[in-house]
Amino acid sequence: MKPAYTYLAQFYDQLMDQDYEQWCAYLIALWEKHGLNPRTILELGCGTGSLTIPLGLQGYSVTGVDISAEMVEIAIDKARGLGSNISFIIQDMQCLDLGGQTFDAAVSTCDAVNYLTDFPTLIRTFEAVYRHLTPGGLFLFDLNSEFKLRKIYGDRSFAEYMDDFAYFWDNTYDAAEDVCQMELVFFIPIGDGLYRKVTEKHQQKLWRSPQIMEIAEQTGFDVLGCYDFMTDQELSSHSERWQFVLKRL
Ligand SMILES: C[S@@+](CC[C@H](N)C(=O)[O-])C[C@H]1O[C@@H](n2cnc3c(N)ncnc32)[C@H](O)[C@@H]1O
Repeated sequence: MKPAYTYLAQFYDQLMDQDYEQWCAYLIALWEKHGLNPRTILELGCGTGSLTIPLGLQGYSVTGVDISAEMVEIAIDKARGLGSNISFIIQDMQCLDLGGQTFDAAVSTCDAVNYLTDFPTLIRTFEAVYRHLTPGGLFLFDLNSEFKLRKIYGDRSFAEYMDDFAYFWDNTYDAAEDVCQMELVFFIPIGDGLYRKVTEKHQQKLWRSPQIMEIAEQTGFDVLGCYDFMTDQELSSHSERWQFVLKRL
């Protein structure tokens, strides 16, 4: 079984039902709310660059980092010709090393942080973000919530037949570890009415707010906010996405 995004990368943009312009505006509003006017942005788990690009088009200097070469290849293609203020790097965020470069703000969107599935990995990532932020810089990231991972994804299966491919998505929720194991099977056309069956595995960890608070404090961040996504309101039991705002001390 292949790692996450080996095959999904080529279908990701087609399957995503997100308004990234609105997402970009939300992050800018959070910076404003918390008194930051950044010029340089580090984006962790940037995927196909769907947020990196609108941020770059707003004039920010953005560096997108992702572990998946397949995702970054698409991001580079999408950003070609849009400006030298948008760049991409393939790296694992937990051992991020940009040679001493620092940024005014760091962001990570669409549950990229849920892919960090144990404490040492999350701690190493926060430490890496700390090293790459200027003092006072903000780290904005979101997480799939408990409601989303346990009740919506949980032990459920999904399938979709698209015009040119099909996929099956089977989830198993490991309650002992609080990890949702996801197996994605794609049927990709290879001509003459034939399809190739390929499989990849994803894992998303349910991180709870007290755990994030503890790790944030331990790694030199203040937690300025934890909001119901797309708002600056408190979380509810039915929030699907939690938005965190951390400040590097
Ligand atoms: C759901 S996608 C989100 C992509 C993008 N942020 C968006 O909003 O469309 C999660 C991304 O996180 C990346 N990712 C997961 N673990 C990572 C790691 N350890 N380091 C860097 N990127 C990682 C994946 O490769 C994938 O592109």
